[in-house]
Amino acid sequence: MVLVRKHLAECGSTNTEALAHLREGGGSLLVSADRQTAGRGRLGRAWQSGDAALTFSIALPLPASLDLSGLSLAVGCTVADTLDPPSERIQLKWPNDLFLDGAKLGGILIETVPLPADRRGVVIGIGLNLTPLPPDTDRSAFASGHAALQTLDPAASAAGTLDRLAPALRGMLADFETLGFAPWQAAFARRDLAAGQRVRVGDQLGTARGVTDHGELLLETPAGVVPVSGGELSLRLEKSL
Ligand code: BTN
Repeated sequence: MVLVRKHLAECGSTNTEALAHLREGGGSLLVSADRQTAGRGRLGRAWQSGDAALTFSIALPLPASLDLSGLSLAVGCTVADTLDPPSERIQLKWPNDLFLDGAKLGGILIETVPLPADRRGVVIGIGLNLTPLPPDTDRSAFASGHAALQTLDPAASAAGTLDRLAPALRGMLADFETLGFAPWQAAFARRDLAAGQRVRVGDQLGTARGVTDHGELLLETPAGVVPVSGGELSLRLEKSL
């Protein structure tokens, strides 16, 4: 797969740019921006990043029949394994969040658009905080905390980080198209923030017991272990029963 790269000084949202590119019949593209003025997160939320973040989206025209289950987890594993191979300080919170030392480092927003001829446009948006928040920042907008990549690697820059991630993600996506999520199940387990913890997912409470080979969360409830799909759900760690 050839991934053409385009860099913008500023845009509303790289996901919006990537979706428009696919609607106009464009091919695979990685679009990054120095600044987003209307960055979007999951569940209709705004994406709040500090002053400096790496923000980019990958646009892919794919067969409409391709099963996208677990794609956000495979993306998260690839980002984490590329940027943090030895220490495993980066953890993944099902289904879309990256955490560093217990605070949110970044997130993944996957969106799709129907295309002609049994194709579907898939956009994978990734936002990663690069620098720590200044001490006087109002942290109330960062409900899951704020972690920065430069805490892990003081030399990390947006351009250098993207240069490392782009080929890794391209390789991952080629494999995902033929193999689905299963090859990343073990990698996710090594970085699973919620494993063994009491969690709330939507209106369900239970204990997180890893994920299936399709990326569904396994939730242990009094009624047994039930698989839960990501979709529009998010997971909250519960302090106690
Ligand atoms: C989340 O944590 O809810 C997901 C955040 C995803 C943010 C990235 S930044 C690049 C791309 N463009 C957007 O508008 N959102 C994604």
